[in-house]
Amino acid sequence: MAEAHDRPPEQFKLRMRRYDPESGEAPYWDEHTVELEPHRSVLEAVLQAKDRFDGSIGIRCSCRQAICGSCGVRVNGEPALACHTHLDAAKSGARDGVIEIEPMGNMPVIKDLIVDMDAVHWKKIQRVTPWLLAKQPVPEREYIVPKDAMVDVTQTMACIQCGACVSDCLAMEVDPGFIGPAALAKAYRFVGDPRDDEQFTRLNDLAQDPQGIFDCTHCFKCVEACPKDVNPMGQIMRLRRIATGDHHIVDVNNGERHEAAFTTLVKNNGLLWEAELLPRSYGGNSWFGKFAPPAGKELLSSLPSIVKALLRGKVTPMGALKPHKIPRQDLKAVQAIYDKVESRPERYELNLYISGEDES
Ligand code: SF4
Ligand code: SF4
Ligand code: FES
Repeated sequence: MAEAHDRPPEQFKLRMRRYDPESGEAPYWDEHTVELEPHRSVLEAVLQAKDRFDGSIGIRCSCRQAICGSCGVRVNGEPALACHTHLDAAKSGARDGVIEIEPMGNMPVIKDLIVDMDAVHWKKIQRVTPWLLAKQPVPEREYIVPKDAMVDVTQTMACIQCGACVSDCLAMEVDPGFIGPAALAKAYRFVGDPRDDEQFTRLNDLAQDPQGIFDCTHCFKCVEACPKDVNPMGQIMRLRRIATGDHHIVDVNNGERHEAAFTTLVKNNGLLWEAELLPRSYGGNSWFGKFAPPAGKELLSSLPSIVKALLRGKVTPMGALKPHKIPRQDLKAVQAIYDKVESRPERYELNLYISGEDES
């Protein structure tokens, strides 16, 4: 069989989302058929349609080599770089053989496939102070930095600011004020850099912000969306681990207590004891947490969720009194994992991207 780049041109049907907010008209779908070799990109297909059929089609691009991050769109509903998506692959992923191209989500559309990156993405990047606040005194020559530390931040440095993760972040969809995956990955770039002098201040700021590191819901969408394997969610989890594990930052969002309650309950019972999780997250990590004064107010505000959990059987009145039980040997096996991790002299984590090994 011929290699993809040896195959002759074929016809590809494109269905593009068109919208011009200034026109006052509603968005609509526009279809064009282009002819290109199957290994060519979706970007080339859009540019051919623009060139041959309608010069008013709006798309942003520059490098055409997956470097500049300007051509982020959605192809068949998934975030992608148009210049880095082959037509044959896009066609095989299409519902009805027609390649569907839309603007990215969570950002306002300027025109057709172009979204306003300034309004959302860049504003959030600026929010995290995206530059090094160097330790003083600055050495006359270079800082000497441990190799592992630089390797660790290299993953976030691979970000090309395309906004694909922002486009698909489920937390941002619900709460547009959430700082978001790209900006928090950028924050880790400096939090993880041993030359930066403001690790605590940065983390405290991001932990105390109600729309900061504890607003992420671990949905993995940003991990799947990222064309550069930056793993934004992994960077957010690192920020949390350093904030809670190293600096013991107790945040207004109950994130630190929630994490402590979760791990303690699983360690003690082998499974999560759901009925205890909220009271401990609010009042402190013990059975008496529910009697702490701040817990009462918070529990009252969570009453609708508690009632829903009871109605859906996620929590039963009996489950509120007693934790789940698992066989003794299984509980021992769970606790052995804790012992192994907790007996390590220090937390050692290099990212998967660089080391090729799983996180420890
Ligand atoms: S894992 Fe967190 S940051 Fe990433 S898309 Fe989901 S909610 Fe957003
Ligand atoms: S983290 Fe990945 S998806 Fe998000 S902006 Fe950077 S390169 Fe794009
Ligand atoms: S045009 Fe630069 S990343 Fe696609």
